[in-house]
Amino acid sequence: MESTLVEIMEGRTRLLVPKQSMVSKAPPKEPAFFNPRARINRDFSIIAYSTFLQKFKGPKIFLDSLSGIGARSIRVANEVHAVEKVFVNDVNPKALEIAQEIAKLNNVTNCVFSENEACRFLSLHSKRDQRGAIVDVDPFGSPSKYIDCAIRATFHGGLLSTTATDLTVLHGLFPTACKRKYYGVPVRAEYGDEIALRLILGCTNLVAGRLDVKIAPLFVQNNMHYYKTYVKVLVRTGDEEEMGYILNCKNCGNRHVIKEITRECEVCKSKAGIAGPLWIGRLYDKEFVEDMIANKEKFEVDKSCKKILEKCKNEADMPPTYFTIDEIAHMKKCPPISLAKTISKIQNAGFRATPTSLNPAAFKTDARIDEILSII
Ligand SMILES: C[S@@+](CC[C@H](N)C(=O)[O-])C[C@H]1O[C@@H](n2cnc3c(N)ncnc32)[C@H](O)[C@@H]1O
Ligand SMILES: [Zn+2]
Repeated sequence: MESTLVEIMEGRTRLLVPKQSMVSKAPPKEPAFFNPRARINRDFSIIAYSTFLQKFKGPKIFLDSLSGIGARSIRVANEVHAVEKVFVNDVNPKALEIAQEIAKLNNVTNCVFSENEACRFLSLHSKRDQRGAIVDVDPFGSPSKYIDCAIRATFHGGLLSTTATDLTVLHGLFPTACKRKYYGVPVRAEYGDEIALRLILGCTNLVAGRLDVKIAPLFVQNNMHYYKTYVKVLVRTGDEEEMGYILNCKNCGNRHVIKEITRECEVCKSKAGIAGPLWIGRLYDKEFVEDMIANKEKFEVDKSCKKILEKCKNEADMPPTYFTIDEIAHMKKCPPISLAKTISKIQNAGFRATPTSLNPAAFKTDARIDEILSII
């Protein structure tokens, strides 16, 4: 097998990866799956997990339920010094063979390898003293079928991270499939990335509710290929509900959060579309993101991480949804003005406005669409 592997460096960890995965556009699943483009996804995990463990009291166990060749888990074992034990699980024995080679190559000794179906693996860790301080779910496509088992395997007060790559479903191409997998439907809108993240969080929250726990999002991250959410799993207290809908008016561009379904746009009175039910609470914990920023220097991560984290910090307490400069230009029927200029014009008019980490050409604001259009 070794002849088909090549050595690369990711963060401070030496990885052995299938040669084909470095050259083909869609990395092959055989002999084992590795996606070099998910490096930033793993970089953020390293920062988020080490930040989380700083304040976590309890056994510092990491459960990687769909590990592939162990790129994430062995990086965690090698780079996040606070972690005590790492469980590396996948259904593909060839992936696990490579993962073991990688562990040896990095002199990592605190990993336990298992070949199991992910839900079965997670169920084996659902007893209180065997749960993970951190649990990761990184499947092909949707994480929805693993969420129950993953929550059960997460320590109360622990961190659950999930990746979703079923972008067409989350972007509204297949609303029935989306409802089936995430309990909510999207609308097709410029800020579809945020809707997708809120649908994943909404589904996680509904499942958590069934299991008598609740979630508190700490951090979310996306790029063209995936959505990643990091949530704290907490004992349920009270009945406060951070579920709702987003009303989206295609006619005038108005959008805002609603608790109950109403279809009339308050700006132009047209019939509006509705996304949800989905998570309407915060996407980031500002203090956690600040700690991530402080921590990031300890690691060898992509330089874009810093910029993205700064944006997350600034948008942490902004209202849901964002506007792209292109959609504003389209409505104004003129060429787009720069993001910086747009933001400063809105701020000068007395509103709040910030860039968003979810889209490099978009901004969050508390101004309504009619107010934005009269300012720009
Ligand atoms: C996207 S890859 C994981 C990538 C890995 N986390 C990383 O960062 O490189 C998904 C993995 O899930 C494994 N897999 C698919 N279905 C599974 C299941 N039901 N149980 C366990 N592993 C599964 C595949 O073999 C594959 O290695
Ligand atoms: Zn309207």
